[in-house]
Amino acid sequence: MSSRTDADRCTVVVGCQWGDEGKGKIVDVLAEDVDVVARYQGGANAGHTVHVGDSEFILHQIPSGILHPGKRCLLGNGVVLDLLQFFEEHDALVARGIDLEGRVGVSLRAHLLLPWHRVLDRAAEAGAAEKIGTTGRGIGPAYEDKAGRRGIRVADAADLDRFSELMARGTERARKRLLALGLPLDGDDARALDEAMEQSAALRERILELAVDTGLEVDQALRAGERVLLEGAQGTALDLDHGTYPFVTSSNTTAAGAATGIGIGPTRIDAVLGVVKAYTTRVGNGPLPTGFDDEMDARMRELGGEFGATTGRPRRCGWFDAVLARYAARVNGLTGLAVTKLDVLDTLPEIGLCTGYRLPDGSTVTEFPADTWSLESIEPVLEMVPGWESSTQEARTLDDLPAGARSYLDRIEELTGAPIHMVSVGTRRTQIIHVA
Ligand code: IMP
Repeated sequence: MSSRTDADRCTVVVGCQWGDEGKGKIVDVLAEDVDVVARYQGGANAGHTVHVGDSEFILHQIPSGILHPGKRCLLGNGVVLDLLQFFEEHDALVARGIDLEGRVGVSLRAHLLLPWHRVLDRAAEAGAAEKIGTTGRGIGPAYEDKAGRRGIRVADAADLDRFSELMARGTERARKRLLALGLPLDGDDARALDEAMEQSAALRERILELAVDTGLEVDQALRAGERVLLEGAQGTALDLDHGTYPFVTSSNTTAAGAATGIGIGPTRIDAVLGVVKAYTTRVGNGPLPTGFDDEMDARMRELGGEFGATTGRPRRCGWFDAVLARYAARVNGLTGLAVTKLDVLDTLPEIGLCTGYRLPDGSTVTEFPADTWSLESIEPVLEMVPGWESSTQEARTLDDLPAGARSYLDRIEELTGAPIHMVSVGTRRTQIIHVA
């Protein structure tokens, strides 16, 4: 990625599992060599952890490229913009010495995620017979309003009267829905919501100062020969269409979503880099076909520090699922893979790769099924390979890796059909292998 070629002028970085693959670090590393980084979907449900020197940053809405001075960072129309959280994050970065002047742009077409969306998200989860295990950040209700054609967009903030009217209507609608759910808002809760709504309304002028047409800006950047990274949040298995529905998020996390979520045509995208963890994790409800037993689960969670960056929830862990990764390679049209957290496997004597799913009738499938429920009753077909039992953290080329780690990566390439372009062997920026 260090040479400026046309082959990857516009690259999508997409998660290929259930999120938390380490996209934040990969985007941070790649951002050094690009001009613009743009988020194309999701909202404050994401939590991208990036280490710079001894400092740790957890970014929820602002693209991870922000930690590189001078890079322009955009939030596209596909994002649901949580106004309060966004400015909190923005101001916290400024307070930590990051210069954001002229560097952040928000799509005029992005929908606003307002305090009532969070209230509705939590109410819906509390009352659901089958809980999704959402992050509670209001994502589902915000996208429901968007699809229901009653959302409020950044562009609506330009007209104070119209904006106030939309906010009042939205608040009223939320109250009625809560009432219908048998959860009327009263007392402290009602006052807290009113206050949060007032705080959001007060940010109207601030958001307008950052508002741009992200599609136009990205198009112009590409025409001027600049390089652009389109940053996805969550992962392929959480995609609204292609994931383990209904245990998914409410947006298209996959690479095609980058075009609609930024406002460019798919032909403008040159490359798609899929990010996979060297094993698998999942936070929230829904099947995890390669999930470990309790003991191994706890061990991997400890080794990998597998706790949600947004909610702090423990992540469930399992072996690398090549069925899912191969599916992700196909639905995203991957041109390359970035494998992260290889070093987390350094101490294991034996490592598993899942090559198929065995059905209750004894047959085996190797394509990721549309029927999410069938995943509850499959047995993973595991290929166990010897671990390398030595540190990979200082490796900076593939040749520096122990032979066992190299064969493990070769097997991942073989099973997914996607060439490995990068391998991450630690949290620091420098702990990365660029494959020539
Ligand atoms: P929501 O996006 O908050 O509606 O949550 C829907 C599902 O996506 C839940 O299983 C969440 O745990 C999961 N999810 C949402 N965002 C992330 C993320 O950034 N990483 C991992 N899982 C996520």
